[in-house]
Parts: sequence; structure tokens; C-alpha cells
Amino acid sequence: MEEEKQPTGGPHFVGKKDEMIEAKHSFRTLEGRDVLIVYHQSAFYAIDSYCYHAGGTLLNGDIEEFDGKMCIICPNHKYKICLAQGEGIYKATDPREKTPVPRWYSKGVKQRIHTVTETNGDVYVKLSEDRGFIESDFYQGEKGKVERAKA
Ligand code: FES
Repeated sequence: MEEEKQPTGGPHFVGKKDEMIEAKHSFRTLEGRDVLIVYHQSAFYAIDSYCYHAGGTLLNGDIEEFDGKMCIICPNHKYKICLAQGEGIYKATDPREKTPVPRWYSKGVKQRIHTVTETNGDVYVKLSEDRGFIESDFYQGEKGKVERAKA
């Protein structure tokens, strides 16, 4: 009987730095988890590849800064996800204010993020070891595939 391999979290080699920079957005499957690696303004980020809202693929999401945070915009319903923390953010007004002014609000961490490192021109991703449930977990694995197909 073949022994089942235990997940290690990595770090996993994901590509050469030059190629990752040129690609800007790279999709990788690491230990069965689909991860998006983004290069933007001299920094690498790694996040779960499917949006926490309804499983939309983030691969072609635009990157923009909102409220001082670099975010990816999900192409499906335009949710904004901060690349560094995985926070979901939105802009709204508080109707209780006398003169409502639109402000940014955080929904907290919704997207699982992973750690990117570089060594001698090679890029590595270490998967998050946070054991708590993060909403983007829902769209990973076999069950996630079914849910993404429905979305
Ligand atoms: Fe991403 Fe709805 S699936 S915003």
C-alpha cells in the first residue's frame, strides 16, 4: 500500500524570479491548493486563487490601491481583497452621520494568504499554517471545485 504523503506547507519552488515578474500573475497548485502569485510594484504576494465571495477566479483580477492597501479586484463582482493580509474591504457611507462621507471599511481577513520568499533568483511559496477557517478555504479541494462550478 502506498503511504499517503503528509502536507508540509513548503516552501515550494514556484518559478524563476525573472519569469514570475514578467508573468505578473502566476497560478500554481501546491499540495492540492490552488494559489495565485502576484508581482506588483516590486513585491510578490501569494493568495488563494478563488475569491472568498463565490469562488470567482482571481487570476485576471486588476490590482489597485485602496485606502493605502494594495488590493486585487475580483473580476466577478468587483470585491476588493488586500494582497498583504487577505482582508476584504469596501467603501460605504454611514447613514447615521449628518453629512455622510464615503469611507473604507474592513470585513476582516477573508482570503487565505501565503508567504513568498526569494533566494538566488528563485521564488518560493510557503502555504499558510493558520488552522482557523478562512472563507476562501471553502473553494479549495474537491468540494470547492463543485461549489465554484455552481457560482
Ligand atoms: Fe469574487 Fe463575487 S466571486 S466578487
